[in-house]
Formats: sequence, structure tokens, C-alpha cells
Amino acid sequence: MDERMISGELQEEDAAVEYSLRPETLAQYIGQSKTKENLSIFIEAAKMRNEPLDHVLLYGPPGLGKTTLASIIANEMGVQFRATSGPAVERAGDLAAILSSLNPGDVLFIDEIHRLPRSVEEVLYSAMEDFFIDIVIGSGSSARSVRLDLPPFTLVGATTRAGLLTAPLRDRFGVLCRLEYYETKDLCAIVTRTADIFHVGIQEDAAIEIARRSRGTPRIANRLLKRVRDIAQVDGEDLISLETTRKALKMLQVDAMGLDHIDHKFLLAIIDKFRGGPVGLDTIAATIGEESQTIEDVYEPFLLQIGFIQRTPRGRIVTPLAYEHFNREVPKIE
Ligand SMILES: Nc1ncnc2c1ncn2[C@@H]1O[C@H](COP(=O)(O)OP(=O)(O)OP(=O)(O)O)[C@@H](O)[C@H]1O
Ligand SMILES: [Mg+2]
Repeated sequence: MDERMISGELQEEDAAVEYSLRPETLAQYIGQSKTKENLSIFIEAAKMRNEPLDHVLLYGPPGLGKTTLASIIANEMGVQFRATSGPAVERAGDLAAILSSLNPGDVLFIDEIHRLPRSVEEVLYSAMEDFFIDIVIGSGSSARSVRLDLPPFTLVGATTRAGLLTAPLRDRFGVLCRLEYYETKDLCAIVTRTADIFHVGIQEDAAIEIARRSRGTPRIANRLLKRVRDIAQVDGEDLISLETTRKALKMLQVDAMGLDHIDHKFLLAIIDKFRGGPVGLDTIAATIGEESQTIEDVYEPFLLQIGFIQRTPRGRIVTPLAYEHFNREVPKIE
């Protein structure tokens, strides 16, 4: 799959700046008010009791700020932040090494936690619950199990696919936070903040325009801003204007709702070839030459969120809102 301008997933060009754009405290973290409110209470209570924070699971679509929030949690607790990811922890021994190197109270962040190998996940259960692990030493008839006590710690897990988590793992998290797509006003604040960090000026209507086309996702907002900034710079514009922003976004083929040519292909195929649906996922996937899984995980979540499609037992339906977006007439029911 080629890299889409409006994909929430991390791309090479984001990685270079993302670190410098990360807010460091809950107060600097924009939006997600419910999650912030909950976390700040739990953090304060844990600090008053002088205990580590309960284990936290952060879930939601890519680019909404899970990794950022995990490091803020460590910061607010005043402890070290250790980060790894599900696929990186291959063996139980790897996990044992990480866990035993923690200081009391530290935050261990496991990104893509749904991808932990099962054998590693099982070791995590006792670590999370009672801060010990049983490790097997030797093999065959001489194998024996040794109990290793661990410093108390906070596990912060992140996943874009909460549904893939096993029940025993999910149940061991005391705090579950579902990150939501951001509202335009919050994205606008993020664009303005990022522009500040980049030392570029942007007019408010231009920031709003970028926010509107960012699919509710800070990572996309920051990426679009960077591209718009490049074009403003080439044009010799000091303060980024709405006009330049629109021109840039047109060049980037990001439409007024933040949709790109792949979204268009998907929606228009349902409209033109299946009279708006319902059409089964596999059928539409074959029609546009994409994997069903990619459509379900990457294209659909945002289209569902903005109400352009619906999932029904008989397949996908394009809604009148999407017809309107393309200036199309909704077909009459026969
Ligand atoms: N609430 C926020 N306020 C300001 N900036 C934010 C916020 N949330 C995210 N960002 C910015 O968006 C970018 C992406 O955030 P982050 O890497 O935390 O997302 P993620 O959910 O971990 O993504 P992934 O699912 O790919 O791991 C970062 O550069 C971060 O600075
Ligand atoms: Mg992340």
C-alpha cells in the first residue's frame, strides 16, 4: 500500500519531528477531556497513597496520541518511562529482563500489545497481578521453575485493535481509556501549537481549515501543516493564509472532509457499481483491488465516524451524506 497523506499511521517523515511535538504534561495534552480527567484523578490518588498507578490500557485508532499519553503518565507520576512493543518482546526471557530492570513505580509501555506472543503474555499475568514471574530454568527432566519477585510497576499498554486482546490480559488493566477522534477546535489548537514550535505564523481560518481536513487525528494535522508550511515558504508567505492552505491541500489531493483518492474510489465504487449497497466487504474489496482487512482497519473507521458509510448485516451501505459530498442524487428505492 502506498503512503497516504491522510493515513493516521506513523510515516517516516512524521517520525523525525514527532518527538519534539509531544506534549509533556496532561495540561499540555489537548482534547480527550474524559480520559484526561480520569487519569488525573487516578494519578493524584496513586501519588497520595505512594503506590504505583494501576495498569492502564490505551486504545483507539492510530495517531490519536496513545504513545504521547503513556509518556505523560510517567512524567506526571515522576517515574521513568520504559518503552517496548508487542512484536519486539519475542521470548518470556526478554520480558523477564525488562521487568527486573525496572525501578519501583516505573512505567513500562508496551505498544501494539495485542501482538505480544502468547507465551510472553502468559508471563505478564502474574507480573501484573502480583509483581512476580515464574521462570523455567533448564530443560527436560532437569527443568525447574524459579520465582522472581519484581518491583511494583505500572504497565501501560496501547493498541489500535482492542478487540484482539485476550480476556485475561484485558481484565488485568485497572484503567481503560478509549481515545476518540478529536473535534475540530482541539485539532485547531494542536495545529496552532505545532506552528508555534515550528516558528511559523498561521492565520486562524487556515488553522481551522487544516483541522477540518485532518480526520480527527493530530498526527495527520501535524503532517498537513508541515506540507502547507513548505508551500507557503516557497510562495514567500510569512503568515500562512487560508488561500495558500486551500491551494496546498488541493495539490495534496485532500478534499474538504479530509478524504483522498482511495476513499473516493471506495465510496464511488459502492455508489456506481452497487447502487449505494448493501455490498459485502469481500465483494467491494475485489472490485477495487484491496484487501478486505485493509478496508476494514484503515479506510472504514473514519468513514463510519463521519457517517458516510454504515455496516449492516447485509453489507456496507453508502449514506445520503456521502452522496451529497459527491453532489450525487440518492437513488430512489424501487
Ligand atoms: N492531545 C494532543 N495534543 C497535542 N499533540 C498531540 C496530542 N495527541 C497527539 N499529538 C501529537 O500527534 C502525534 C501522534 O501522537 P502519538 O504518536 O502519541 O499517537 P499514537 O496514538 O501513539 O499513534 P500509533 O497508534 O501510531 O502508535 C505526536 O506528534 C503528538 O505530539
Ligand atoms: Mg504510538
